[in-house]
Amino acid sequence: MNAHATKKKIVLAYSGGLDTSVAIKWLQDLGWEVVTLVVDVGANTDLAAIQDKAVQLGVPRAYAVDAREHFAERFIAPALKADALYEGVYPLASALSRPLIAELLVAVAHREGATAVAHGCTGKGNDQVRFDVAVAALDPSLTVVAPVREWAFTRDQEIEYAQTHGIAVPVTAAAPYSVDVNLWGRSVEGGVLEDPMNPVPDDAWSWTADPDENPVSASVTVGFLHGVPVALNGEALPLPALLATLNERAGRAGVGRLDSIENRLVGIKSREVYEAPAAVTLLTAHQALEQLVLTRDLARLKSSLAGEYARLAYEGLWYTPSREALDAFMTEANQPVTGDVTLALAHGRVTVVGRQADKSLYRTDLATYGSGDAFDHKSAEGFVALFGLGLRTRARVRPIEPVELEALGVQVTSVQHA
Ligand code: ARG
Repeated sequence: MNAHATKKKIVLAYSGGLDTSVAIKWLQDLGWEVVTLVVDVGANTDLAAIQDKAVQLGVPRAYAVDAREHFAERFIAPALKADALYEGVYPLASALSRPLIAELLVAVAHREGATAVAHGCTGKGNDQVRFDVAVAALDPSLTVVAPVREWAFTRDQEIEYAQTHGIAVPVTAAAPYSVDVNLWGRSVEGGVLEDPMNPVPDDAWSWTADPDENPVSASVTVGFLHGVPVALNGEALPLPALLATLNERAGRAGVGRLDSIENRLVGIKSREVYEAPAAVTLLTAHQALEQLVLTRDLARLKSSLAGEYARLAYEGLWYTPSREALDAFMTEANQPVTGDVTLALAHGRVTVVGRQADKSLYRTDLATYGSGDAFDHKSAEGFVALFGLGLRTRARVRPIEPVELEALGVQVTSVQHA
């Protein structure tokens, strides 16, 4: 066999940036035949330009996939149906895209007959875990190589390596932040954000208007079908277009700025800044509709699982029986979540101003304090008596000390009757 035929092949997730460009050459130096893959998940990526760049760096084939619809339908919609927020804050934009990119890396590897895949993650983040674990779940025979995690370059060494290998290094000083973008949000970390006491500088925001500087207010009505948004202000839209439109509209109102300290899977606390105008708006709207259609018991059960769902997504445990089983539950729970929610977007806030659903469990005749009251007041008496029964027993056996009026400085005025 000649050397060419035995050359081992690897598929690299390629962004066109410095790290993954250097990774192409670094892998080639190690003897790999490198094929690249760039994925559009809604970052307005110029796929053709990135493919060209890869070809100029000597790859025999550069793949590009527009995965916006797949991402929206198979990753974002399930997370929204679950009301998933990691640590109650982060809608999981970056976390949701990794299993999708991993899935495509595996698909290209199969098509190319490659034995390995590669990504440009460092050893300190969550993303390496998500890629590695997702690839393992999809095809355990594939090797995962993480050049940036393995090479021991300092920043200067990396730039020197790039220059000697004919890789264009951006002339601007090192980018001030590490940014990752898709339809569900924009993640920003590093630079001056690393000091948790530093306020987020204006240049870290790019999707959202400053909520205090005359943002453009808007009113939107989101139409849902079984928990998935399908219309904006009465106009039916495919999910990717709906998300892009809402990112713009809510962003102009200053909605969706998030700034928190997050617990990474690898044991590090990190300062994370996100812009997620559509995600914040849709999660608010979705929950408002759920309030109308879910029974009290299901609402409680479902919200107890939302955090678990978010944790699985965050920790890269997407291709697991746990996530699949939760998805089945969330899909069932979302059956009645069809209807409309109207929201006011203003000064960085989302306010629900109205909601309606065909399967609404809200009954005016039960809720009203006006005429037409259908509620059985008589049975309330019996219900309350039984509801408090255990406490009557407890009061007899182990009474609660009453508050001392004297200790509170009680004053008494008596009325003299004539
Ligand atoms: N902390 C977030 C997460 O773990 C954001 C990661 C962003 N990735 C990046 N390469 N900047 O999902």
